[in-house]
Amino acid sequence: MNFFETEKPIGVFDSGIGGLTVVKRLLSTLPNENIVYFGDTARVPYGSKSNETVIEYSLQDAQFLINKNVKLIVVACNTASSVAIPALKEKFSVPIVEMIGVGSDAAKKATVSGKIGVIGTRATINNKAYSTAIHKTNPALEVYEAACPLFVPLAEEGWIDHSATRLIAREYLAEVKEHGVDTLVLGCTHYPILAGTIQAEMGEGVKLIDSGVAAADQVRKELDRLAIGARSAVPGNVDFYVSDLPQKFSEIAELFLGRKINNVHRVDPEVLQNILNQ
Ligand code: DGL
Repeated sequence: MNFFETEKPIGVFDSGIGGLTVVKRLLSTLPNENIVYFGDTARVPYGSKSNETVIEYSLQDAQFLINKNVKLIVVACNTASSVAIPALKEKFSVPIVEMIGVGSDAAKKATVSGKIGVIGTRATINNKAYSTAIHKTNPALEVYEAACPLFVPLAEEGWIDHSATRLIAREYLAEVKEHGVDTLVLGCTHYPILAGTIQAEMGEGVKLIDSGVAAADQVRKELDRLAIGARSAVPGNVDFYVSDLPQKFSEIAELFLGRKINNVHRVDPEVLQNILNQ
């Protein structure tokens, strides 16, 4: 592999800013990689849209990253990962890392009792993305899934340790908890932000799976396998692109990433709409 290929950036896309929780994991696992992040903040949420729309948006998001000359794409959005992977793999030849497979594998490894809980957006849960992936290799495992749509705005509002979040978590998690799961997959990019509240509600005995950790590990393996990991010994750059710049963008992004950010660029949504026709 030539030097030029190894120094290309890793592309990461999400429906909005939730994928920054995955970027955070990538930065600690692969600090010398350059990253281009695209967050579709103008069209978020994907979790309440039809599969057709999520597939169409995901193809556009990936094409945007391909145009930035990325060497690998991380589909950091669980909703996109649950419906768009076959279409993305058919259209693009770069390696693709998605959230469902890696999160499911991590949950299978973690469970002792064989009872796994999964929380995510309505789309991810209605598509039975995680239970299908888990049962593919181990049909004996019991999987209990619950949609927790209000967790997304709560995380974006920064209501991490807040009575409203605790109340909603109690309501959403009651059934999964009743099933006595010992492992809970945080099957949405926003949820790691609320991990403290979710852990407190589920109890210390329940292991939370942050798919971002598993995804970063999978990226490292893929880069090694293909010998395209950055050879540079200096920390990489992160460039952020968003399709809308919400007022609180920097504040929320810094909350998700846990560090100061700059390099934020706005992409005209019309450019995205036409990006596949060029
Ligand atoms: N990024 C989405 C996910 O991980 C959550 C936000 C949305 O609904 O778009 O499923």
